[in-house]
Amino acid sequence: MMKVALIGLGSVGKGVAGVISRKDLGITITGIADSKSGCVDPDGLDIANLLLNKSRNGCCGDRQVTAADVIKKADYDALIEVTPTNALSGEPAIGYIKTALLRKKHVVTSNKGPIALAYKELHTLAQKNGVALRYEATVAGAVPIMHTLEYGLAGNEILALYGVLNGTCNYILTRMADEGLTYEQALMEAREMGYAEADPTYDVQGIDAAIKLVILADALRLADDEGCTIRLIAEAIPRKHILRVSPRILEKNHPLVVDGTLNALTLETDLAKEITLIGKGAGSTETASAIIGDLLFIRDRYARRT
Ligand SMILES: NC(=O)c1ccc[n+]([C@@H]2O[C@H](COP(=O)([O-])OP(=O)(O)OC[C@H]3O[C@@H](n4cnc5c(N)ncnc54)[C@H](OP(=O)(O)O)[C@@H]3O)[C@@H](O)[C@H]2O)c1
Repeated sequence: MMKVALIGLGSVGKGVAGVISRKDLGITITGIADSKSGCVDPDGLDIANLLLNKSRNGCCGDRQVTAADVIKKADYDALIEVTPTNALSGEPAIGYIKTALLRKKHVVTSNKGPIALAYKELHTLAQKNGVALRYEATVAGAVPIMHTLEYGLAGNEILALYGVLNGTCNYILTRMADEGLTYEQALMEAREMGYAEADPTYDVQGIDAAIKLVILADALRLADDEGCTIRLIAEAIPRKHILRVSPRILEKNHPLVVDGTLNALTLETDLAKEITLIGKGAGSTETASAIIGDLLFIRDRYARRT
């Protein structure tokens, strides 16, 4: 049985806990924490009861037990770190992840902060301690882009990557183009539908600049007249050292013209040529899918230890 500690019990954490308790995956949760409480049981926690407690009282365990306590003391093979993204400091997630790696525990995270800000340091620490650091869920939610790049396309040179990577932004653009909503109306609707995180600042700031640019150019209407539409495209062309995100006019039948909260990535490679992956970029069980995939990968890879 693989033992895991789960830090964060919001949308993603609840999804992970739900999947582990519903499916017979050979995974048990021995430690859990949110921002206010925590609890541990080396024999495995009663997840249904914890989730009920969380929905009734807003906390999952003992208010005297912190997330740091659970990470330092619980008996687990892998830490699942799913706390909010802090794009400026990466904390407290970076500290949580380092503590677990130093204890020679594997780490799986959906948190972009630590990976964007401290990947090299964390990766080196994981290697030194003989454990894995996996982060499939940090990009494009359920879409297995990291695994595809690392294993499915091993041996290929990635010539270019183009992606629709912000589901909230894509939802807004779709609603503006299809229903003629204003940016403000579409943004409000996206918030009401819960597509933005509890603190939507990072999402909205990025969207704001990009979509206002689109609006300024009155580009959606013009694009529509030409049988085209607009998507916010993230682009990486390694050989040219290009990394950029910009609104682009695409033909409506282009593979990257996905609707609503979907994410899409097109990879151009020397051997496989062009591959496009499309799937849910966010969501509780969708993101849990990527985390569970990382955990099962670790279990297979490190079979003798877990
Ligand atoms: N939602 C998605 O679809 C999605 C998709 C891909 C990646 N992600 C990433 O996954 C992470 C989690 O997202 P989410 O949507 O689940 O966020 P969320 O709903 O805001 O939940 C965050 C959880 O972390 C807990 N938390 C906050 N500060 C903490 C701290 N200092 N120590 C321990 N726990 C703390 C919160 O506790 P309380 O419950 O007590 O407030 C809450 O349970 C984020 O980094 C996000 O960017 C999310």
